Amino acid sequence: MEKSSIPQEAAEAAFEQRLRRHEAELSELYSGLYKNREADFAHFIDMLRSAFAARKPSLRLQDAAREADPDWYRRRELLGMMLYVNAFAGTLKGVQEKLSYLQECGVSYLHLMPLLQSPKDRSDGGYAVSDFRTVQPELGTMEDLEQLADSCRGQGICLCLDFVMNHTSESHDWAKRAKKGEPGYRERYFFYEGWEIPREFEKTIPEVFPTTAPGSFTELPDGQVVMTNFYPYQWDLNYANPAVFNDMTENLLFLANRGIDVIRLDAIPYIWKQLGTSCRNLPQVHTLARMLRIVCETVCPGVLLLGEVVMEPARVAPYFGTPEKPECHMLYNVTTMATTWHTLATGETALLQRQMQALCALPKDFLFLNYLRCHDDIGWGLDYPWLLERFGFEETAHKKYLNDWFTGKWPQSPGRGELYNDDPRLGDARLCGTTASLCGIEAAEQEKDPFLLERSISCDLTLHAFMLSQSGIPVLYSGDEIGQLNDWSYRKDPEKQADSRYLHRGSFSWERAKLRENRQSREGKLFWGLRRLETIRTEEPCFDAGADVAVAESGCPHVLALSRKKDGRELICLYNFSARFVQAGVSREGSYTELMYETHYENIQSIGLYPHAFAWLLRD
Ligand code: GLC
Repeated sequence: MEKSSIPQEAAEAAFEQRLRRHEAELSELYSGLYKNREADFAHFIDMLRSAFAARKPSLRLQDAAREADPDWYRRRELLGMMLYVNAFAGTLKGVQEKLSYLQECGVSYLHLMPLLQSPKDRSDGGYAVSDFRTVQPELGTMEDLEQLADSCRGQGICLCLDFVMNHTSESHDWAKRAKKGEPGYRERYFFYEGWEIPREFEKTIPEVFPTTAPGSFTELPDGQVVMTNFYPYQWDLNYANPAVFNDMTENLLFLANRGIDVIRLDAIPYIWKQLGTSCRNLPQVHTLARMLRIVCETVCPGVLLLGEVVMEPARVAPYFGTPEKPECHMLYNVTTMATTWHTLATGETALLQRQMQALCALPKDFLFLNYLRCHDDIGWGLDYPWLLERFGFEETAHKKYLNDWFTGKWPQSPGRGELYNDDPRLGDARLCGTTASLCGIEAAEQEKDPFLLERSISCDLTLHAFMLSQSGIPVLYSGDEIGQLNDWSYRKDPEKQADSRYLHRGSFSWERAKLRENRQSREGKLFWGLRRLETIRTEEPCFDAGADVAVAESGCPHVLALSRKKDGRELICLYNFSARFVQAGVSREGSYTELMYETHYENIQSIGLYPHAFAWLLRD
C-alpha cells in the first residue's frame, strides 16, 4: 500500500530532532541580532512548533521524501516558467484549468507572480502587500491557491511564490496602526519626526527608482517621514525589531503550509538598514537569511529559498552561505543574463566568455536560476572596469550604446525595447521589452521582412539554447515560448503608464498560442524549437548541473564555445552572437552529431554557422 501519511508521533519526533539539531545555532544568531530578548525567542520557537503542527500530512510526506533525496531540485528535468495569474488565465482557477498547457510546455516549476492582497493603484505589480494571508480577490481565494498547489503537487510541478519581505504596503494593518501612532507599530517601520536623520541616510543609500520614485523616504501628510526605498507606498520593515522578524517568519510559514515549494525572497539584500551605509548586503542580512534557512529545514524541509539578489557576482554568491551554514538554495544568474544581452548588441563574446569562466570556477553545488527575461527591467550590471581596460568602453557611454541598440536607434538594430528609469544625471537607464521584441521579431513583422523574421526567430532560439545550456534551473518567461511581442497598450492604462516594465507584462495571447499548431508560423517555430531543445536537455546527461563545464576557444570572436562533460561524454555548444555567417569550431578529435538538426560532422575544427545560429555537438 502506498504511504499516504506519516504517523503523527513519528512526524513530531522528527521535527523535534530537527529543532534540537539547529536550536543552539538559531539561538546564537537570534540573540546576536536581538539582545536580551529571550521572551521573543521563546515565542519564535513556539511559533515554529505551531507551524509544524499545522502542516498537512501530504506536505509532511513530501518533506520526508525530499529530505531523503536532497538533490531533488538539481535535476536537469526541471524546467521553470514564471507568469502573472491575471495575464495568463485571469484567476487561480483559470491557471488550474490551463495546467495541461503548462504540461505541454514541459513546465515542472511554476513561479506565480505576486498575488497577495495589494491596493490596486498603489501596488508595484503586487509587490506592495497589504495582507500576507489573503489573495487578491479578483484572482481568487487562499483556498484556490491551496487547491492549485495540490494539483501542481499531484502533477509533479513545484510552485514558487514571492515573499515580499523588505516592505509592506502603506495599507497593511501594521502600517495603518503605525500611522495612527499605536504603540508597538511605529517600531515596525522607520519613522522620523522630520528630515534630519532621513537626509543623513540618503547621503549613502543609492536610489532604486531614481525617476519613478526618487529618494528613500516619504513625507506623510501629517509631516512624519517614513523610509520607502522602493515606491512611496512600500514602507520598509524594520528587522531590528524582533516582532517584525517573528511575524514575517510566521507569514512565510503560512504560505509554505499552503503548499508553496519555493519561496522567492524578494529584495533580500535590502532588509537591514544602518545609518552611514548603503543599507544593502549588511552582515545582519545574512544572519536573517541563515535563520530563515534553518526555519525551513526545521519546519518544512521540502521548501526551498530562492534569493532575489540582482547585483554583481561578488555580492550574489555570499547568499548561498557556506556548506556548513547554507542560506539560499538558489539564486538568479543575473550577470549572465545581462551579459547575454550585451553580447547580442555587440556581437563580441569576450565579456561573456569571462563571465562563463567565472561561473565555471564556482562550486558546483551553487544552484543558479537561469533566465533571459523576467517581469523586471534589464539592468546593465556588467564588468565595466574590465570593458574599459580591454575595449576602452566607458560605462555611461556603453550603457547608452546598449539602450540605443535595443530601442532600435541604430540603423542595423531590429530591437524594439523601451527605457526604464532613465536617470539623465547618471545616464543609467535600464531596459524593458520581451525577448521576441528585443530579438527583432516585432520589427520584422511590422516591416513585413521575411528574412529579418527568420533571423530574429533564430536569434531568439539561440539565446534560449544558450540559457538552457547553463547549469542550473532554466526559467522561461511566460509568452516567450510563442514569441510574444511587447504590449504597448500599457501606455494608455492610467494604473500602468508610469512604469514601463508593463511593456513586457502583457496578457498572454491564447489566440496566438493556438498558432503553435502550425509549425511554420512564428509561434510554431519557437514553441516546437524550444520543446526540442528542452527535450534534448532532459535526455542528455551532459546538461547535468554536476557536469564539468568550461569555455573553449572557438577561433571566432563572435562565437561562444562551451564544453560540457559528464560520464565520459562531451557536448560542445557553439553560439554565434553576430548577424554574420561565420566559421568557428574547437580543436577536438573525432566526429560529432549536432543534436538539434541531427547533422553529422567528421570534425568540428571549423564549421559554418548562420547569423545568430547555434550548434549543440555531441561527440559520437
Ligand atoms: C523586486 C521585484 C520588483 C519590485 C521590487 C520591490 O526587485 O522583482 O519587481 O519592484 O522587488 O518589491
